This record gives sequence, C-alpha cells and structure tokens, in this order.
Amino acid sequence: MTRIDKNTSGAGSAVTVRGLVKHYGETKALDGVDLDVREGTVMGVLGPNGAGKTTLVRILSTLLAPDSGQATVVGYDVVRQPRQLRRVIGLTGQYASVDEKLPGWENLYLIGRLLDLSRKDARTRADELLERFSLTEAAKRPASTYSGGMRRRLDLAASMIGRPQVLFLDEPTTGLDPRTRNEVWTEVKSMVGEGVTVLLTTQYMEEAEQLASELTVVDRGKVIANGGIEELKAKVGGRTLRVRPVDPLQVRPLARMIDELGVTGLAGTTVDTAGGALLVPILSDEQLTAVVGAVIARGVTVSAISTELPSLDEVFLSLTGHRAGTSQDTETTETREEVAV
Ligand SMILES: Nc1ncnc2c1ncn2[C@@H]1O[C@H](COP(=O)(O)OP(=O)(O)OP(=O)(O)O)[C@@H](O)[C@H]1O
Ligand SMILES: [Mg+2]
Repeated sequence: MTRIDKNTSGAGSAVTVRGLVKHYGETKALDGVDLDVREGTVMGVLGPNGAGKTTLVRILSTLLAPDSGQATVVGYDVVRQPRQLRRVIGLTGQYASVDEKLPGWENLYLIGRLLDLSRKDARTRADELLERFSLTEAAKRPASTYSGGMRRRLDLAASMIGRPQVLFLDEPTTGLDPRTRNEVWTEVKSMVGEGVTVLLTTQYMEEAEQLASELTVVDRGKVIANGGIEELKAKVGGRTLRVRPVDPLQVRPLARMIDELGVTGLAGTTVDTAGGALLVPILSDEQLTAVVGAVIARGVTVSAISTELPSLDEVFLSLTGHRAGTSQDTETTETREEVAV
C-alpha cells in the first residue's frame, strides 16, 4: 500500500477505520481497510465498480455490521454505539432514498420529525433546506416529477436535516449530466464550508480532484494508496514538463537537443505538434533543472513553460494495472503488488 501523507491520524480524526473486514461468501467486499478522515476535510474514496465503496459507507453509517475490525465516527463505535453515531451523521446513498410519491417538502419534513425535531422546527428546517438547494419552487410537487439533478439535491438536503458533523456521500453524481454534476459539487463545497466533514465515494477522478483534499484508492476491498491528492499524483506518475517556444519551428530542434543532453534517467521527449510544445517526462528535480537550464542556455525565447501532474486516471492505472471502472481481472495479485510504489 502506498502511504504518502503520514499526518492523517491522531487528534482531530472524525472517522477512524482499522482493519475493517466484510466478506460475502467468497467475495471480499472489504479486506482489511484502514482509513482516517480529519475533521473538517473531505476524503475521497476512489474505486471502480465492486471495489467496496458502498460496503464501507454502509458500515460507517451503521446500516451493515462488519465481520471484524473497528470503525468510529466522531468517537462513536459503529458496532457498540450505533444510536449516538446516527445522531451525528448524514447519509446520501448511492440510490435515491427519498419517497417519490411525496412532495419534496413533505420528504424533508418527515425526516425532520423522524429525527425528533418539533413540528415547528421540522417545518423551518424543510423550508430552509429547500431554499438552500434551489427547490423551493418544486417543493409541493411529488419527487417523482423531479429531474435527476433535483432528486440528488433533495437527497443532499435530506442528509443535512439533522445538521450532521460527518456526511457520507456515496457516488453523489453518478449518472448526472455535467451541468447537474457541477451543481451538486457546488452544494457539497458549501456544506464543507460550514465545517462538515465529508467522506465521499466516487468513480470520477475529476470529482475527487474537485472536492477532496485527501484520497483513498480502493480496489477489490483493499486500500491500494492514500494521501493528499497532489502528493499522490506527483508520487505515482511523475510530472511532465511542457515547453512552448515562441517560434514553433524551434520545437523539434529543442526536443532533439534535450534528448542529446544525456540527463540521467530521462525518458524520450515527445512533441505536441498541435500545441506547438514539447513534452518531457520528469522524475526528479535534478532532471527538471537540467532540462530547463539547457533550454535557457540555448537562448530560445519561450512563451510558456509549465509542469503538469498526471491525471487520476493515470494514477489509478499505474497503481492497479487497470483503468478505473474496467475489467478487474486482468492482473494477478503479485503483479499488482509490484506496481505499488
Ligand atoms: N449484499 C451483498 N451480497 C453479496 N455480495 C455483495 C453484497 N453487497 C456487495 N456485494 C459484493 O461486494 C463487493 C463490493 O460491493 P460494493 O457495493 O461495496 O462496491 P462499490 O465499490 O460500491 O461498487 P459500485 O461502484 O458499483 O457501487 C462486490 O463484489 C459486490 O458484488
Ligand atoms: Mg457502490
């Protein structure tokens, strides 16, 4: 397992998971998962279909008992203190949990009442949240008439009724179009702004990048990497140096010159003809310094010079040997362990 940022446990941990195991017959849905979510941060749990994400969220929200291991949320044990734990969490499941026959307002009001709010408080809270999630106009219509994005927003509103300290979001935007996905991201960001700790599962690299500060990559019930998103990306894939000379005719000669420099461990330079730039895979600061130094020494005027981190897609591929969301059975366990950094 890749361990990058060591500063994630100890005081201030809102969610702590140790050695969590859940098997369904032969299927190891969770196979010894460790995880820490620091208070006030967003942890992204990234993994393909069947990785164990929903199983983890269900255990953390007390809907499912683990076979072994420990998990606490705000200090409450998932097995021994489920009632207290439920009072401090909110959950938006992978599939809509609202009652479709009921109007949005009614859904929220009923949840408020179930959470022991007085009639008056439940009413006020429902109104507030409908306003907040831009659903006031649709408040009296049955949820069955809502668009996918409206339902998801109603789900999010429902999970906020009890003013949770910790919010679990299981694939909050799967199946939504890009515009609606952006709306949901905006709402999640605003909840985080209010100090809510979030654990969200996703299959979308972009979603993790947008929302999470830390990432846990899971595959077949195991954590295969975790740490800060930037560190993870930098660690796994290295960087790419992109140099764009003002004169596009300089791209090829520059690329040739870099290849002929003989910098230790430097892989071949590629040319982005359309972008008028050359791309150099960089594995160390020394390589970066040598290449940039040579470009400058040559006296070529450049209009842009930047380093780019690999995408999370590339990170996943290098960690697991398969792309997120594709067949999981092409690699042996042995190969995968060798791949881990
Ligand atoms: N009730 C169950 N009975 C048997 N197997 C189950 C059950 N629930 C989950 N599994 C299996 O456990 C594994 C993990 O499932 P889980 O739903 O946690 O994955 P996931 O990461 O949420 O996937 P997805 O992205 O598709 O939602 C899968 O192989 C799944 O088939
Ligand atoms: Mg799931």
